[in-house]
Amino acid sequence: MDQKQIAAIYHQETKYYETKMADQQKPLNWDAQPSPFKAYHTEKKIDLSPYLPLRTNPFTGKPIEPVPEEKGYPFTLGALSRLLYFTNGVTGILQYPNGESLAMRAAPTAGGLYPVEIYVAVRNNSVLEDGIYNFQSNDHSLALAWEGDFWTEFEKYCFDHEAIASSKLLVITTAVFQRSAWRYHERAYRRILLDTGHILGNLVTYATEEGFYSYPIGEFVDHLLNRLLFLEEGLEGILSVVALPQTPVHVDPAHHQAPHCSQAEIEVSGLDPLLLQLHKGSSIQQLIDESPRKTQTPPSPDALEKKYALKENILLTGEPIDWAGGVGQTILLRRSTRAFTGESFSREELASILEYGYASPSSSRSLLFAPSFLETYVLVQHIDGLEKGVYYYAPVTRELRLIYAGDFENQSWHFCLGQELARDAAALVIHTSHLENAMKYYGNRAYRYLHMDAGHIGERLNLSAIKLELGVSGIGGFYDDEVNALLGLPLEQIIIYITTLGQPHGLHRS
Ligand SMILES: Cc1cc2nc3c(=O)[nH]c(=O)nc-3n(C[C@H](O)[C@H](O)[C@H](O)COP(=O)(O)O)c2cc1C
Repeated sequence: MDQKQIAAIYHQETKYYETKMADQQKPLNWDAQPSPFKAYHTEKKIDLSPYLPLRTNPFTGKPIEPVPEEKGYPFTLGALSRLLYFTNGVTGILQYPNGESLAMRAAPTAGGLYPVEIYVAVRNNSVLEDGIYNFQSNDHSLALAWEGDFWTEFEKYCFDHEAIASSKLLVITTAVFQRSAWRYHERAYRRILLDTGHILGNLVTYATEEGFYSYPIGEFVDHLLNRLLFLEEGLEGILSVVALPQTPVHVDPAHHQAPHCSQAEIEVSGLDPLLLQLHKGSSIQQLIDESPRKTQTPPSPDALEKKYALKENILLTGEPIDWAGGVGQTILLRRSTRAFTGESFSREELASILEYGYASPSSSRSLLFAPSFLETYVLVQHIDGLEKGVYYYAPVTRELRLIYAGDFENQSWHFCLGQELARDAAALVIHTSHLENAMKYYGNRAYRYLHMDAGHIGERLNLSAIKLELGVSGIGGFYDDEVNALLGLPLEQIIIYITTLGQPHGLHRS
């Protein structure tokens, strides 16, 4: 197998086809489901729950006595508690009739499987010992995993990213593959990356409210960072590092625009599951690139604006979403909608949702990792003031370009594996990318970047829809080639993620 092409091979091999679904979706072995929580046996646990922004502690059911905001340098324990809570803390408990329960989190996750773990690294502060901590969402605490200042290592392994040196706090996301692979098998890696993007969406959005600037980093030497966190290679892996300085940092794009090293030399065993072959094959292996360095600069994201420019252009204008009161309140309310009514919402509401989806507080665009390659299509099914049909969305000029008109609810129902959610949605936002083009710049790692970017935008679409009292849900399972056919796209343009938007059942708008 050509490991240079593992991302393309993986994508092809993990496509869903109606004729193969019986093989691809095997019966679940409930006894083998991994726990969504990681246990750390450490003496040092820091309870963050007194600072929860809630009246009742969701873990004990007891009232929370408000604690006065303590002094802390350079941030308080309260700020860290809220940051982690709104990033992916437990925001709801779902009780099943059999007495079991599911702790639901701030960010959505495919299948309710929660494969992503969060670690924080801190140094030089008055609230915590220097070290690396695992965020234990099941009781909202930090477990000290390793004591010490690891900044030299983080800086080195992240290719001297400018934001790390200026930060005293890093948030690291890792994935425990089997939590998702247990149900989704090889296709799990796609969903794990999307989940990670959603979590980053909460983190990046909420961080500004606590005075942090966020710099998500996707380029690092995987095995060195994994070792720093003592992750079990093959079972888990780091997917992102976010530096959170409290002053803005100048990041030189030229320094970060191309992979620092060849990904082709990585030894990947053909015996590994495909998921692992892609994870390894998209890893960066060494600090110094001995192969000819890529010097190509990715095309400007402006290229995305030029697509379908000759088609009918509809300028979308809507009120910017008013986040007075804080985005945290919306994160608390966020849940994935389980059924839509099939009714419409307005073109202005769609405009506001898309505008927020693409405008990031920390950068001019929401595409964190591969800013030039993610393309957005909107399938309009019931939007007041818009003809039904397939549109391209130009995110900077905020134009919808009608590719062709038509009523495609039956097709959306079908390609989303017969989910009524898709049929009854008012609109579907579909993210796609020309994978080969993205791989020219980022190698196999493009696959990670594109999916994390799509998840990140997906979370922003979630938050803005919820704020407008609309319903929203991600869809990670679809018949890939059927989506291409509907959008009129060649198969080189891969389908990455679908976000459904609509009027939720059981919620009367005020
Ligand atoms: C990547 C991703 C894919 C998802 N795919 C589907 C899907 O195909 N169908 C569906 O009904 N929900 C889907 N969901 C929603 C999850 O089922 C939901 O997030 C999870 O049950 C947790 O519930 P919550 O979002 O309300 O917290 C998806 C969510 C994510 C993040």
